[in-house]
Amino acid sequence: MVHLLFSLMISTNLLFMLSTICFAVNSISPSQSVRDGTTLVSKDGSFELGFFNSGSSTNRYLGIWYKNIPVRTVVWVANRCNPINDSSGMLMINGTGNLVLLGQNKSVVWWTSSVKNVQSARVELLDSGNLVLRDVVAGTYLWQSFDYPSDTLLPGMKIGWDLRTGVKRSLSAWKNSEDPCPGDFTYGIQMQHNTYPEAYVRIGTAKYYRSGPWNGLSFSGSPELKPNPLYSFKFVYNEDEVYYMYNLQDKSVISRIVLNQTTRSRDRFTWIEADQTWRAYSSAPRDMCDHYGFCGANGKCIIGENPVCQCLKGFRPKSQEKWNLTDWSLGCVRKKPLSCHGRDKDGFLKFSGLKLPDTTLSWVNKTINLEECRAKCLNNCSCMAYTSSDIRGGGTGCVIWFGDLTDIRQFLVGEQELYIRMSASELGMEICSDTKSILLLSKLTN
Ligand SMILES: *[C@@H]1O[C@H](CO)[C@@H](O)[C@H](O)[C@H]1NC(C)=O
Ligand SMILES: *[C@@H]1O[C@H](CO)[C@@H](O)[C@H](O)[C@H]1NC(C)=O
Ligand SMILES: *[C@@H]1O[C@H](CO)[C@@H](O)[C@H](O)[C@H]1NC(C)=O
Ligand SMILES: *[C@@H]1O[C@H](CO)[C@@H](O)[C@H](O)[C@H]1NC(C)=O
Ligand SMILES: *[C@@H]1O[C@H](CO)[C@@H](O)[C@H](O)[C@H]1NC(C)=O
Ligand SMILES: *[C@@H]1O[C@H](CO)[C@@H](O)[C@H](O)[C@H]1NC(C)=O
Ligand SMILES: *[C@@H]1O[C@H](CO)[C@@H](O)[C@H](O)[C@H]1NC(C)=O
Repeated sequence: MVHLLFSLMISTNLLFMLSTICFAVNSISPSQSVRDGTTLVSKDGSFELGFFNSGSSTNRYLGIWYKNIPVRTVVWVANRCNPINDSSGMLMINGTGNLVLLGQNKSVVWWTSSVKNVQSARVELLDSGNLVLRDVVAGTYLWQSFDYPSDTLLPGMKIGWDLRTGVKRSLSAWKNSEDPCPGDFTYGIQMQHNTYPEAYVRIGTAKYYRSGPWNGLSFSGSPELKPNPLYSFKFVYNEDEVYYMYNLQDKSVISRIVLNQTTRSRDRFTWIEADQTWRAYSSAPRDMCDHYGFCGANGKCIIGENPVCQCLKGFRPKSQEKWNLTDWSLGCVRKKPLSCHGRDKDGFLKFSGLKLPDTTLSWVNKTINLEECRAKCLNNCSCMAYTSSDIRGGGTGCVIWFGDLTDIRQFLVGEQELYIRMSASELGMEICSDTKSILLLSKLTN
């Protein structure tokens, strides 16, 4: 009898456990809530949303993590700088259809403010790890967590700008492994009106690492990065939006990009099931040449050369003394001044395999060709270099640079070309040492 009761108890327990598994919910409606201790689980069980604390801190945060990974890995946090200090946290949809996170005494700790009175809102955790607030009637997203990244870029997330709505998506590292509040280590795309867009990793406002602008084939600072078995990627840049996005080739692989304030790196990790650990797949900056502006203005960085910094052809160290002491910060200046609109017009020297210079002072037009581009550059005394904005199929479009050329590195491989402005006398000297320039000069004199 006792035995029977016992097994009955076990089976009801089992039933209860099963029911909690089966009834794991992936969405809630306005009459429901997610309290501390309960969670939402995406349909396929990849991601979970709930409350957590990190390390020895007792602060509670609402976040999203991988459901199937034993090493708790949080990919998104709602109340990053506004923790709840007890288990009173509760996520719900309020009367106007906004998501609100309530803490002690029902104080509002975090909220979405984009929604203007929608009665049919429903919040759902998608299999991609995106938390969406859906207007069930209109079938549209009112808000989504992918628009407000924390420190992690998941497959299918965009980093960049939506030029129509003005939504800007960038990553910011946690202050430290216990505090998800944003540190000063960030990663985002910069673009001003008509400049060639590119992504920067920064410390505060200071530039720290650039992948180099997208040239249609690759990022000019990572020519070796091509479509690969792990992930595909794209850089989209048109009137509507500018963004970088990647997707995994094999959906069973788990991989993410994350910023780390402590190591000051942007790392890609892949989950290794056999070892039950995250393995670093790639990391940036890779080497000293990746450190922003390492060789100063008009200098180039070459891994494997000694010294690693050299002036671009036609330039010399601004201070030979400091350059000799391996202080590259002052960079390089022209050996021969440009004549600009003077009697002998300037020309251009062609460089290959360079990481393109910082594009902050640049201008781009995707329709004009390289000849017109050259003319445009020649006609403006502050234009220092030009190239095609898209190098595919022989090259289309035009980018021109103004002022000093910064953060350049030399690669042994790479189809990237850059035409740098030189005075005719500098080019004249080149003729003696470089036959390629003869062609250029003959073009010049035509
Ligand atoms: C939790 O936070 C509230 C409001 O910020 C504060 O009044 C309360 O003393 C805190 N409780 C604990 C246990 O720290
Ligand atoms: C819902 O939350 C938003 C954001 O906090 C707020 O502006 C709005 O007034 C709230 N609506 C109601 C009915 O409380
Ligand atoms: C919570 O609300 C009650 C009643 O309004 C108030 O007496 C109490 O001080 C509040 N507690 C905190 C921690 O704000
Ligand atoms: C940053 O990297 C360090 C060293 O690998 C690690 O201990 C720490 O947890 C990482 N920080 C975050 C926020 O992931
Ligand atoms: C820098 O080093 C070069 C080569 O070693 C030497 O010829 C030159 O005199 C040095 N210049 C200065 C200013 O120290
Ligand atoms: C690019 O240049 C062409 C020719 O000068 C011009 O018609 C076009 O408007 C320009 N496009 C942009 C986006 O500035
Ligand atoms: C040269 O380009 C700069 C930067 O775009 C611009 O401010 C300046 O007006 C241009 N000068 C001429 C002569 O077009």
